[in-house]
Order: sequence, then C-alpha cells, then structure tokens
Amino acid sequence: MIRRTARLAAAVTVAISSIVVVVAGSAGVSQAAATPAPGPITAPVMGWNSWNRFGCNIDESLIRATADALVSTGLRDSGYTYVNIDDCWMASTRDAQGRLRPDPVRFPGGIAALADYVHARGLKLGIYSSAGTATCQGLPASLDHETVDAQTWASWGIDLLKYDNCNNQGRPAVQRYKAMGDALKATGRHIVYSICNWGLDEPWVFGPDVGGSYWRTTGDISDNWGSVTSLLDQQAGLETFARKGFYNDPDMLEVGNGGLTADENVAHFSLWSLLSSPLLLGNDLRSVSASTLAILRNPDVIAVNQDWGGAQGRRVADAGDQEVWAKPMSDGSVAAVLFNRGGAAATVSTSAAVLGLGGSSSYTVRNLWTGSTSTTAGAIAATVPAHGVTMVRVTRAGTLAAPPASGTLQVSDLPWLASSNGWGPAERDRANGEQAAGDGGTLSVGGTTFAKGIGAHADSAVHVYLGRACRTFTAQVGVDGEVGTNGSVRFAVYGDGRLLGYTAVKTGGQAPTRLTVSTGGYLTLELRVTDARTNGIQYDHADWGAPTLVCGTTGAGSFVSDRTWGTATNGWGPAERDASNGEQPAGDGSALTVGGVTYPKGVGAHAASDVTVPLGGACSRFTAVAGLDAEVGTSSTGVTFSVLGDGVTLWTSPTVTAGAPVALDVSVAGRTNLRLVVGSAGSVDYDHADWADARLIC
Ligand code: GLA
Repeated sequence: MIRRTARLAAAVTVAISSIVVVVAGSAGVSQAAATPAPGPITAPVMGWNSWNRFGCNIDESLIRATADALVSTGLRDSGYTYVNIDDCWMASTRDAQGRLRPDPVRFPGGIAALADYVHARGLKLGIYSSAGTATCQGLPASLDHETVDAQTWASWGIDLLKYDNCNNQGRPAVQRYKAMGDALKATGRHIVYSICNWGLDEPWVFGPDVGGSYWRTTGDISDNWGSVTSLLDQQAGLETFARKGFYNDPDMLEVGNGGLTADENVAHFSLWSLLSSPLLLGNDLRSVSASTLAILRNPDVIAVNQDWGGAQGRRVADAGDQEVWAKPMSDGSVAAVLFNRGGAAATVSTSAAVLGLGGSSSYTVRNLWTGSTSTTAGAIAATVPAHGVTMVRVTRAGTLAAPPASGTLQVSDLPWLASSNGWGPAERDRANGEQAAGDGGTLSVGGTTFAKGIGAHADSAVHVYLGRACRTFTAQVGVDGEVGTNGSVRFAVYGDGRLLGYTAVKTGGQAPTRLTVSTGGYLTLELRVTDARTNGIQYDHADWGAPTLVCGTTGAGSFVSDRTWGTATNGWGPAERDASNGEQPAGDGSALTVGGVTYPKGVGAHAASDVTVPLGGACSRFTAVAGLDAEVGTSSTGVTFSVLGDGVTLWTSPTVTAGAPVALDVSVAGRTNLRLVVGSAGSVDYDHADWADARLIC
C-alpha cells in the first residue's frame, strides 16, 4: 500500500511540475538541465565511517588522521574513498541564520577546511543528519530545515549525506526522505544520499524514488557475531530490490574492531561484499593491523562487491548451519560464499548448477582467500571453519551441453539442472504437498487450474538449461488455493544469474499474475520463489502455472537499453533506459513495472514516442512486454505499441490499458533499423508506456 501511495503521489507531482516548466519557458528548463542528479552511483560506496568505533568521540584531528591513514595503508587505492563523519559533529544550536554549525570544540577549523584536506588526498567527505528534529544523540537535525542544511553542506564541499531516522515526529518517511533528496538535488552538487531509516517503511521501494543511492535494511550492527548473523538473515528476500546504482545496506563493517574472531571477520567481509553492500569501514585506521588490512584490501573480494552482474548476492541454499550464497559476475562467472554458522568446522557442499551455472562439462574454481585454483565436473565442497567461509569464483571451462529441442516447451517436461524447495521437492504438474514427491493436489491459483506446471514451496529454485536457444518464458504464478488466504511470496526469474523480472507480493486467494520475460541468449534460467519477508515461509505454496518456453532461436541476447540508439523522440522528457518515464530530465524515472511485474531492464517511454535502434541486419527476433507503467495507476486512456523494421510495420498492439500488458515476439531478421513507436489512444496524459525487458537476439 505504501508503495502505491508513493507512486501515485509522485505521478501527480510530476504532472503538476510539467505544467510549471511549460509556463516558465526556457529559463526554467535550462536551469534544470544544468543541475546534476544526486545519483546514481556506479558501484557500492567504499570508505570509512566514524560511528562503529568512535561513536561521539570524534574531532577534526581524527578525521584528518583517518584520511592520512586511508592513503598510507593503501586502502584509498583499494577503492575506499569516502571519509564519513557520523553523529555528533554539530554544535548544540544553529547559528543566527538558522544554519547548522560544527561543534566548536571538536571541529574548531570548520567542516569546509576538513573537506579541503580530504579532497587534497583524493578522498571525499561525508556527513550525517537525521530526518527528525534532533539526531539520535540529541543534536540539531534537519527535519523542516532541508533546504538550508543541504545548501550548507554543498557550500562546504560535502560529497555524501547519511540521513538517519531519530526524532522523526511520526511523520511519513517518504515525505521526510523526499524533502532532503529534493534539497540535495537542488544544490547542484553531486551528494550521494544514504538513507538510514533502519529498514522501516520499505526503503528498498521508496529509496530510489526519493533520490537515495542505498538504504539501511535493518537496525544497527554491533561488534559481535550474533549481530552480524542476525543482520545477514534479514537480507534474504530483499535481493530483487538492488539494481545497478541502488543498493541494500545491511549496515557498516565491524571488521577489525575486536569483537569478531579472525574467521568471523573474513566471513563478515565476504558476505557483505557478496551482498553488494556499501563497504564502509568502521575500525580505527590509525592503528589497523596487517591482518585486518589483508582482509579489507583483498582485491578479488572487493571486485565481487564492485561488479554488477545483474543481481546482488543471495542465499541459494540453507541447510541449517551450512548455507551457500551466490552472486553472478558480469563476465558470466559466479562468486559464492560457502558459509558455516556452526561452532565446529564442517563440510559445506554445493554444485555449479545450484550457483546458477550448469550445462558445462567442467568448471574452474578459484578460492578468493587462498588464491588456489581447481577444476570440477560440477561438485563444489570445502571444509569450512566454525563461523567461517570459503569464498570462490566459479567459471565454466568445458564443453556446453546441447540446447533443448525447438518449439513450445513446458518446463515441467524438461530435465532440471538443479532444484531446491522449502518443504518436500518442487513438484512437476502437481501442487506442493510438503512431504514426499507426488503428494500434492492439482495446481490451482485463484480458481484457475493448471495441468502443467511446478508446485513449489518458498524458498524454492528450479534451474533449467536453455543453451542460448530460447527466446521467451511465460507462466501464470500465484499461491495455491490449498492454503486458502494464507501464504505470501514473490516470484522471480533469473537468466544466467541476472534478475529478469519479479512479481509484487502474491498472497493466497489472489488471481494468478502473468510473468513473462525475454530469455534470448541465456544459457540457464532460474525460477525462484522467496518468502515475502512478512511472516516466514508458512503456507507459502507457490505455483508456476503452465511455465512455457519458446525455443529454437539461437544467438546472443542484447538489451535494447544497452545498445546505441539512433533518433529518439518522446512525449515528455527523454525515453529512459532501464527506468520508467519520469517526464522531466534523464534518469528521473522509477523501476519499470507493468502488470504486477517489475523489470530491471527495458525502455520507459511516454506517448508520443519513437525510438530507433540500428540493427545492421544482424538480429533475428525482438521480444518485450509492452504496457502502461504502474506508476500512473488507471489514469491513462490507453496507448498503442508498434514495431517497425526499415519502415515496415512488423507488429502493432491493440489499445493497451492499465494492468493489461501484451507480450511480443517479433521477427526482425535482416532488418537494418528497428523503430519502437508508442501512440496515444485518446489523451497523452499519463501515457507512461514501457517496453519492459526489451531484448534482441542477434
Ligand atoms: C543510529 C544509526 C547509526 C548511527 C547512530 C548515530 O542509530 O542507525 O548508524 O548513525 O544513529 O547516533
């Protein structure tokens, strides 16, 4: 509900501001164009923050010494460039002009001078406030002072704001965090916006829409193993919300603070890296030990953190104290953490297929902490110390298997590379009976029954080999009728580990949602069901109704949003890459959402729109899901989508209205130029038209 309200509110604001720009004329437009957006960042932020180790015991000499230490230890050159001052930097009152000022005892030289000092060393300076009347330590904070505070920080040369949630007066989070996001943006300075509201009010949904680059998902970390594992457990189910430039934040690092053993430090750092978390050091860098530095500077592990292969790391197997977490890398390999939570050394086993690979006759496995390399036919196992990890990067190294047959195929008829399931096995053509294979009833979602399909139980994953020969996947998904109105899950589909699309939360009793994705060029597909992060996995009987692949078109997949475009015209603002249309400057849209499914990739247009994509005769098919973005609710009178190749209309949709997207799969063989055209069916108001998951096979 929060999400819907926020999106509608955003749409209304945008529509009003559209009118303002038209009336204001060119002066208003050019000023907006000169203002850089506060985000996105290109990779998780790396740096240091004062809070974990020093609390309020900070001053300007500590900040200077830390900046010097970042340089002398080599940490800066490893990528740690932000020096972030947390709570307690400000004086207990504002100045006569209502501006925040630094504590005169702790920071007598002022923050601007500190920013100069830090910048001179190739570093950046971050600062802290709260979206409340006072910070968590009772000092002046920024609620209702957003504009003046943002301008003060910009004038000092601040590069990042961590914005806390204490003393918020019970006012709505979205409003409070948006006010600061807007104020930061209005300064014209690129200030990274870190949202710290402890995982309340779904910051993973509203964070990107208010200008945030990352958002805390939990309460505070503390320097002990129980805290680290408790925060880790709260990350499961949030993996779909991270995308390039926007990250979940499970809180800052405690590595080197003394409360964790050597193995626990390695585990904490490995897992946070795999989660694509910001890497914010929380220890005293003036006296950092060689062993702590060796952890923090491991280039192979940092590379896992900084790489965007299409999804953050996530738990792929959970056998009590032994867990496996995996993250796809952009080169097609997979980084994995074999994690032993137990109090004694144990063997943790998995396979290349469970990690999201599979289909190769052999794999190389590189240990990222020892540097050793081995070869396997698929099995991966290690003896892992108590509270420890083995972290590896696995790469396909052998001959690929033959692809599935051509034609329209049911996933329940195909061999599976691997499957895992919350209760009992994932069933073929039956619902999940929770125990033995075959003990479930007929697949049934919201009164619709399916003869073919998969009966899963969260958390569940089914891996299928595509051999780069299939172009679309579609299924009707939802919670099985056998659990009544119980159960709450999300369905997600991954291609070669990359997130392709995910549903809103589905609960018992709802009609099925049509989940369609483009699959061109992928070697593997993963059908995943996660608990909706509300009430555990009880009753989470999740059905993939008629999961269907269309196969027989071999080639490399290529997102339209990653290609060079020719001419592109659009009704409001530019047509956006991998975001909906925000109506104003480039990059102002939200996650593409059509028909209850959110897509990380695609084109966000606004009628009337016409985007040309040069193909050079090299591509065979174009696939996408075309629909009105959820952010406009039912306000649009409808749109039509057309695909043209070299001036010839190849496909035209009927009038598409809210909540009823259409999937398309069009031959573009031999065409030199693709044109994606959106027209209005009535008024152009609210015609936010998405070419979701728009993909070519070339
Ligand atoms: C909250 C935040 C912490 C830290 C303190 C400072 O607890 O979650 O990360 O910033 O406030 O008071």
